[in-house]
Amino acid sequence: LATRSRQYSSTAPLPPTYEKLYNNYSEVRRVLGTQRLNLAEKILYSHLNNVEESLLSNTNNGRDIRGKANLKLNPDRVNMQDASAQMALLQFMTCNLPSTKIPASIHCDHLIVGEKGADDDLTSGIQQNQEVFDFLESAGKKYGIDFWPPGAGIIHQTVLENYAVPGLMMLGTDSHSPNAGGLCTITIGVGGADAVEALVGAPWELKAPKIMGVRLIGKLNDWVSPKDIILHLAGRLTVRGGTGYIIEYSGSGVETLSATGMATVCNMGAEVGATTSIFPYTQASARYLQSTRREQAVRNAELLQSFPGNGHAEDAYFKFQADAGAQYDEFIEINLSELEPHINGPHTPDLATPLSAFKKTVQEEQWPDKVSAGLIGSCTNSSYEDMTRVESMVKAAEAAGLKPAVDFYITPGSEQIRATLERDGTIETFESAGGIVLSNACGPCIGQWKRQDGVKKGDANAIFTSYNRNFRGRNDGNPDTMNFLASPEIVTAMAFAGSTTFNPMTDTLKTPDGKDFRFPAPHGQEGPETPFESGKQSLGLLSQKPDPSVSVAISPSSSRLALLEPFAPFPHSELSGLKVLVKVTGKCTTDTISAAGPWLKYKGHLPNISANTLNTATNKATGEVNVAYDLDGSKHTIPDLAKRWKEAGREWLVVAEHNYGEGSAREHAALQPRYLGARIVLCKSFARIHETNLKKQGVVPLTFANEADYDRIDAGDDVSTVGLYEMLLNKGKGEVQLKVTKKDSGEEILIPTKHAVSEDQAGFILAGSALNLLSKRQ
Ligand code: F3S
Repeated sequence: LATRSRQYSSTAPLPPTYEKLYNNYSEVRRVLGTQRLNLAEKILYSHLNNVEESLLSNTNNGRDIRGKANLKLNPDRVNMQDASAQMALLQFMTCNLPSTKIPASIHCDHLIVGEKGADDDLTSGIQQNQEVFDFLESAGKKYGIDFWPPGAGIIHQTVLENYAVPGLMMLGTDSHSPNAGGLCTITIGVGGADAVEALVGAPWELKAPKIMGVRLIGKLNDWVSPKDIILHLAGRLTVRGGTGYIIEYSGSGVETLSATGMATVCNMGAEVGATTSIFPYTQASARYLQSTRREQAVRNAELLQSFPGNGHAEDAYFKFQADAGAQYDEFIEINLSELEPHINGPHTPDLATPLSAFKKTVQEEQWPDKVSAGLIGSCTNSSYEDMTRVESMVKAAEAAGLKPAVDFYITPGSEQIRATLERDGTIETFESAGGIVLSNACGPCIGQWKRQDGVKKGDANAIFTSYNRNFRGRNDGNPDTMNFLASPEIVTAMAFAGSTTFNPMTDTLKTPDGKDFRFPAPHGQEGPETPFESGKQSLGLLSQKPDPSVSVAISPSSSRLALLEPFAPFPHSELSGLKVLVKVTGKCTTDTISAAGPWLKYKGHLPNISANTLNTATNKATGEVNVAYDLDGSKHTIPDLAKRWKEAGREWLVVAEHNYGEGSAREHAALQPRYLGARIVLCKSFARIHETNLKKQGVVPLTFANEADYDRIDAGDDVSTVGLYEMLLNKGKGEVQLKVTKKDSGEEILIPTKHAVSEDQAGFILAGSALNLLSKRQ
């Protein structure tokens, strides 16, 4: 690369990350000539391992890259949250390297239960999970990975505050990692196996995403916040609409948004299945970098953008925006001036209702008319802007003598934001109104919530949250809790009203002295007037050089952590004698396949966590949840039957409907079925991350060539593959059919399938898993 570098005319050198980016970008321009590029393409292609090979393979001489080329990328860093980091590190350990090849960080955020309030919850969370935190910290020390202790903050907020700088490409072991797209990075949510590839320095493969352009014009009105952009978009696109796309925002409306607002929008791109989302670098981005004490990053970004290219064209400069005339595969325009606040849910983030229509919808759908709790903050919405806008509402209500009508929880995204809000009086405002400030951790957003209000499993009730996801049972483990997603401002208004039919823009509340109170339109500040506070030192970063003398803490008798055994390679033949374990109907998210909440404690122990496999899936034949029938007709839970079959050496497959594995990057949803004996998942369609995760763990994801064939295959049927082994030997080329022998009649049918197995992925499956292949290469 050095030989290909341009001759810089500036005297100041670029920092190493930007020098690499610049050199690769010059190479991209050399290969693609004057082709117009989107912002996402510029950053992504400038991280290619071999620019020319990637851009020319599978494409029409560098045209039609999107959706066709297999990109092999060198990410700049990897960020891991504590639940997924356990498995990622256990996998990394099997590669026997002294340190990670690229910078990485661990964030202890998922394991703290929200119950009484920050201090108590943090103390008991640390006690209950000490063993896991010790493991993560010792692995961090040994391999030179930044360690953010429990209470330091939620991964996406901490990454935004500390690591995200424009032009970076990062991987995160969490599906909301694209949050960092708010600072003009390409950040992609992946499973632990993908993270390990990047950590060992192997190129990370991605089918070149298509680009969806979302042009924002106008300016948000008083009651509308950036969250409403993505709530509205989710309603238009549905949970599958962004699959295979990077969502790239542009337009004059972008200039009106804060960096943290843009991050909120990118965060929830995961809810429409997008690979990632990205905004251009704006004045607001620079302001955010400055207020988070990263002035140098602002200077570096300016320096990079002023480096002359090859002198032939303006677009030879690396600019953090799309080239004029760049084409998008899909294009949507949103006029911010016409946008209303939205409320999305229950049970799916794409069921979007504008605030003005919500009362009528509640009545028509017979949703509960009472609110049982309001929760704001989390990785999605705990910015200074969010919190000070809410503060303005709370102050106005308090001045009128009003308190929240129901429990009102606030989750700061990081110690830095919490300490700054404390310094500036915002936390005091919340607490004096009766708000409960939880620790700087995920808490109720990921099912770590011990409710104090007496609502029990089975009680139908409605909560309002400013979180990003609202699958059934996600927050409190109660499938009858309806979680409505909204901006922090709308959640707050609903918590004060206690009524789901309240509209703060038009309705009034009665004050204790009988007067009508209407919330004034919220107002806040984009960021603090002086830079953010760092907060408590004990909750700060532990950053160390790799120390090979450290031994990683895992007790052999632990129920929380277990060293991994490699999976067996693919047999030298077609698969035969597989049985359909269960045919699932309806939504089958990664929460359905591997539930969170109380199960989070077993994230580092594959045998133990496997006891939750598919335990909220619905059996198509009977409509029962978590029920499967053995070949002799005996009734079992799904994980119990899988375990029985594993012990009997019987391998199996799952049959499912659309968007199988929707939701998160949770690789346990692939690891667990594999551990229990799954060979194939056959469905109508897959969510992208999960499909990749399956292949990385050696499970073959197949989709029906004819969706109607879903009705022709049932639980207990015998399945053999036709063409699968050959396809794998042919590096992903070739067709695969399934020969199905019906359990009841013995009739044989042939089901044609489709697959998206690439050359590398064929290698993973043959080796038994991606990790098997990687460890062989190390
Ligand atoms: Fe944590 Fe994910 Fe929520 S990072 S705050 S659980 S969206």
